[in-house]
Amino acid sequence: MANLTIRKLDDAVRDELRLRAARNGRSVEDEVRVILGEVVAGQPFEVPPAAPAPRPQAAVASANGLARVTLIIGGGIAAYKALDLIRRLKERQIHVRCVLTKAAQQFVTPLAASALSHERVYTDLFDPESEFDAGHIRLARECDLIVVAPATADLIAKMAHGHADDLASATLLAANRPILLAPAMNPLMWNNAATRRNVLQLRRDGILTVGPNAGEMAEAGEAGVGRMAEPTEIAAAAEHILRPPHPRPLQGKRVLITAGPTHEAIDPVRYIANRSSGKQGFAIAAAARDAGAEVVLVSGPVDLADPSGVSVISVESARDMLHRVEAALPVDVAIFAAAVADWRVANEGEQKLKKTAAGVPALQLVENPDILATIAKLENNRPPLVIGFAAETEHLIENAKAKIARKGCDWIVANDVSPATGVMGGDRNTVHLLTREGEDISVDSWPVMTKEQVATELVARIAKAVETKS
Ligand SMILES: Cc1cc2nc3c(=O)[nH]c(=O)nc-3n(C[C@H](O)[C@H](O)[C@H](O)COP(=O)(O)O)c2cc1C
Repeated sequence: MANLTIRKLDDAVRDELRLRAARNGRSVEDEVRVILGEVVAGQPFEVPPAAPAPRPQAAVASANGLARVTLIIGGGIAAYKALDLIRRLKERQIHVRCVLTKAAQQFVTPLAASALSHERVYTDLFDPESEFDAGHIRLARECDLIVVAPATADLIAKMAHGHADDLASATLLAANRPILLAPAMNPLMWNNAATRRNVLQLRRDGILTVGPNAGEMAEAGEAGVGRMAEPTEIAAAAEHILRPPHPRPLQGKRVLITAGPTHEAIDPVRYIANRSSGKQGFAIAAAARDAGAEVVLVSGPVDLADPSGVSVISVESARDMLHRVEAALPVDVAIFAAAVADWRVANEGEQKLKKTAAGVPALQLVENPDILATIAKLENNRPPLVIGFAAETEHLIENAKAKIARKGCDWIVANDVSPATGVMGGDRNTVHLLTREGEDISVDSWPVMTKEQVATELVARIAKAVETKS
């Protein structure tokens, strides 16, 4: 049969064809062959609507219901993944307009971004064609979300300091839309004090982040935290912001969560820690975010990616954690899931302790501040609902009941962390929820669940309690 050429194909049909082809891992031509085969077999190909219907509770709905993202591509090795991100966003019916920094163009071409986004790509702040009507302001405003991927150390630093000397930074500075960063850099750059400060500043400014993840770096033999989140993760995080899941029973509520272990220094290189992975606290943070809460997560050192849409504050010691928790008040709900060290070393060495003939150094321990009790007993600013976690290896319920009274909190989530349960570091948890009404304490024992299920259930209980109180 002669080749078939179709001219003047409707835009919506062409887009749908490309989407279907990408989803099915076929070329567009092969996809058309399959569709024609289906038609012949009596399964007609449906023409999609010109624009997808708006989701009822989209956080930011554009006039035509199509969510719009301005994607700023920074100059990192992960820029090639930004091309896949364009496809992933478009698959989700999100319109994408790209800005490439000068450095980004060393890694990917404007032509590739343009071909994938089906849009003109912007690169130059002083471009007379787009700046005759302040194009950088339009790029910042004519969208529902700005995504920066990869967000290089340099772009992050520029944002933190309010620079605007190129199109990307000027657009970011002029933005009045949510901004989602997908940082990507070498682990040493990510852990550099300057980057840590800049990221903290941006989070305080309300900038959202997804990743970076832990893993292998482009540089041979290097690994650590710094890999850009995968395009599907970034697209999911973007969609989460654009079309938040519902119901959102904690909308308008501020929830504070602590997670992970604390590290208590013995000397500059050694510390006392525990086996907490932070997974349960992180899962609760994500569930509270999904329920619509504004979430602050104060986390000890963990090997987990920051949940998107959550303000994450990283700390080391129990004392740091308390300071950050106090600074985050007032909140409507405080959940203390961190495994805070009970003790720290009183005589912390200023220099690395050495083996000497004098024998083994004596470590003197002093008690750490009790974060749960401190917050639960506050006279001013006490959160209306204070929830502690009790990690016990024996007499779980009795110890948890004693703890609820001793600490002055409202609820305790008690979990058995004996090594045989695999709770510490594992993905499942068996918990008992103790709730206090005056002198009465009720115990509700839940079946074994994943930590995500425990989080969802706990957040549902919290939502109910918050609703009853108000
Ligand atoms: C091969 C190569 C790879 C690079 N990868 C990264 C990276 O992954 N992350 C990063 O922050 N900087 C990376 N850089 C450095 C940036 O390109 C440089 O800081 C640049 O000024 C960033 O520009 P931007 O702010 O426009 O993104 C890399 C540089 C080179 C030469």
